[in-house]
Amino acid sequence: MTRLNGKRILVTGGAGFIGSHLVELLLRTYPDVEVITLDKLTYAGTLDNLTAVMDDPRHRFVQGDVTRRADVEAVLEGVQWVFHLAAETHVDRSLYDPGRFLETDVWGTFEVLEAARRHGVEGFVHVSTDEVYGSVDEGWAHEAAPLEPSSPYSASKAAADRLAHAYAVTFGLPVLIVRPCNAYGPRQFPEKLIPFFIVRALRDQPLPLYGDGQNVRDWLYVEDLCQAIRVVAERGQFGTVYNVGARNLLPNIEVARRILAVLGKPESLIQRVPDRPGHDRRYAMDWDRLRRLGWWPTTDFDQGLRKTVEWYRAHPERWHALESDEASRHFYEQHYGPRLG
Ligand code: NAD
Ligand code: DAU
Repeated sequence: MTRLNGKRILVTGGAGFIGSHLVELLLRTYPDVEVITLDKLTYAGTLDNLTAVMDDPRHRFVQGDVTRRADVEAVLEGVQWVFHLAAETHVDRSLYDPGRFLETDVWGTFEVLEAARRHGVEGFVHVSTDEVYGSVDEGWAHEAAPLEPSSPYSASKAAADRLAHAYAVTFGLPVLIVRPCNAYGPRQFPEKLIPFFIVRALRDQPLPLYGDGQNVRDWLYVEDLCQAIRVVAERGQFGTVYNVGARNLLPNIEVARRILAVLGKPESLIQRVPDRPGHDRRYAMDWDRLRRLGWWPTTDFDQGLRKTVEWYRAHPERWHALESDEASRHFYEQHYGPRLG
C-alpha cells in the first residue's frame, strides 16, 4: 500500500502544462485512484491538454477558480490528497499585470490550503518554484537558502510557498513543498522560452533573445518533473521542502542554438532584444534531499528537446495560441510590438 493508492486526488491547474502531465501520470501509475482536475481555463489552460484522460471514468474535470471559495469547496468533498499547481506562471506577464499574480498565486493558494484544512486531507503537495531563491549567481541554493525573489511572479510564489509552510507548522496540515527548476516538453503554452523559440523558428521568424543571452536556467523534461512530484508525495517527509533540479544548466543562447540545430534552421534567426527588467542571471539548486528519496531525471536534454520539437511540429494548431487569445495578443503587442509576426 502506498500513500496515493486508492485515493481521491485533486489537481489544481490540471489543464495547464505540468498539471496535465501530472494527471496522466497519476492515472497511469495508480489503477485505483480517482482524480479531479480543477482549472479555470485561463489563456494558459485548455481541455486539449487533457484529451488522453477525458474519457477515463476515474477522471473528472471541473472548471473553477481557486480564488473563489465556493469553487474550491465544491470539489473538496472526500478528497484525500491535493496537488496544487494552479497559478499565473509567466514572468513577463507579471511585469505587465502583477495584481493578477498576487490574486491567483497568493490568494488562490490561501483558499486551497484553507479548504484542505477544513476537509482534513492526508497530504498536500504545493508546487512552488526555484525562482523563490532569486538569482543564484554562484554555487547552488540549498532548501535552507534565503528567499530573495525578484519579479512579481516569484514574489507571489514565495509568499504562497511560505503560506503553505505556515499551514504545516501552525495547523499541522501535511504539506510537502516542491521547488522545481525550468520545465519543458510537449503542451507548454508557447510563450515560454523553449516552445516560443520552437514555434518562431518553425515559422522562420526571429528568436528574440533577451540581453546578452548568457542567463542560465536548469532544464528538466516535464515527465521527469512529474515523477519527482509523485515521489515527493509518496516518500517525502511532511513539512519539508524539496528542490527539483536537473543538473542541466545552460545559457539561453545555447538553448536557442540547440533548437535551431534540431530544426535545421540558421543561427541568423537569433535576434538580440532589450533585457527583461529584473532578469535573474542564474538559477541553480542543490537537490540532494530529493535524490535521497530515490529520484533521478531520466531524459537527457537533447532527447527531450527532440521530443518537444516533434510534438510542436505535429501540432501546428498550437502555434497560434499567442495570436488567437485576446489577452495574449494584447500582452505580446505591448511586449514585442512589431516583432510579433
Ligand atoms: P501553466 O501556466 O501551463 O498552467 C497553469 C494552469 O493554472 C492553467 O491551466 C490555468 O488555466 C490554471 N489557472 C490559472 N489561474 C487559475 C485559477 N485562478 N483557478 C484555477 N486554475 C487556474 O503553468 P505550468 O508551467 O504548468 O506550472 C504549473 C505550476 O508549476 C505553477 O504553480 C508554476 O508556478 C509551477 N512551476 C512551473 C515551472 C515551469 O517551468 N513551467 C517551474 C517551476 C514551477
Ligand atoms: O525556473 C522556474 C520558472 O521557469 C517557473 O517558475 C516559471 O513559471 C516559468 O515561466 C519559468 O520562468 P523563466 O523566466 O525562467 O522562463 P521563461 O521561459 O520565461 O524564460 C527562460 C529564459 O529565457 C529567461 O532567462 C528569459 C529568456 N527569454 C525568454 C523569452 C520568453 C528570452 O531570452 N526570450 C524570450 O522571448
